[in-house]
Amino acid sequence: MAELPIELINKVTWKIPNALCLVGSRHGDEWNGMTQSWVTQVSMEPVLIAISVDQSAITHRLIQDSGVFTINLWDAEDTRTFVKFSKPATKEGMTLNDRPIREGQTGAPVFEEAVAHLECEVRNSIDVGTHTLFLGEVVAAEVRDDEADIASMAHTRMKYGGVKRH
Ligand SMILES: Cc1cc2nc3c(=O)[nH]c(=O)nc-3n(C[C@H](O)[C@H](O)[C@H](O)COP(=O)(O)O)c2cc1C
Repeated sequence: MAELPIELINKVTWKIPNALCLVGSRHGDEWNGMTQSWVTQVSMEPVLIAISVDQSAITHRLIQDSGVFTINLWDAEDTRTFVKFSKPATKEGMTLNDRPIREGQTGAPVFEEAVAHLECEVRNSIDVGTHTLFLGEVVAAEVRDDEADIASMAHTRMKYGGVKRH
């Protein structure tokens, strides 16, 4: 079979409808929030959420060292937030990039403005190449606004995935 052109792989993988959220992570004094599109539920018993995190990301180190993370679903009206959180976040007081946070039950940051959130404890992690797939069991959850439209990749012009650029 002829080799697949990179452009074609990119074009098709970018068409996969994905969520868009902020992953919260923390180890000791180090806190972070990161824009994340590769997130989905993968088991009902236990209730497991999978996220795939770039092995070079600060978030990767914080999750590996703490064994916990949060998933913060966001209002589709406010997708600019995802641009800010696509590089390491700045913590000032109890804010990350000026967004208020609190310490969740797991110790990981929960965004006060999140429309809904989950807190997860890592049960398994799999090295899948550029990324590590973290499988987290849901141990806490909250809905702040039941009416809000939840942000997804379709609400933005941003792209993530495809073939790694060198
Ligand atoms: C729209 C969008 C979606 C993203 N999705 C992911 C993702 O699913 N996994 C990932 O590891 N990085 C993803 N990123 C990249 C991270 O947000 C970015 O590399 C971040 O700076 C790394 O986080 P760090 O602060 O933990 O180093 C995405 C970026 C954007 C703009």
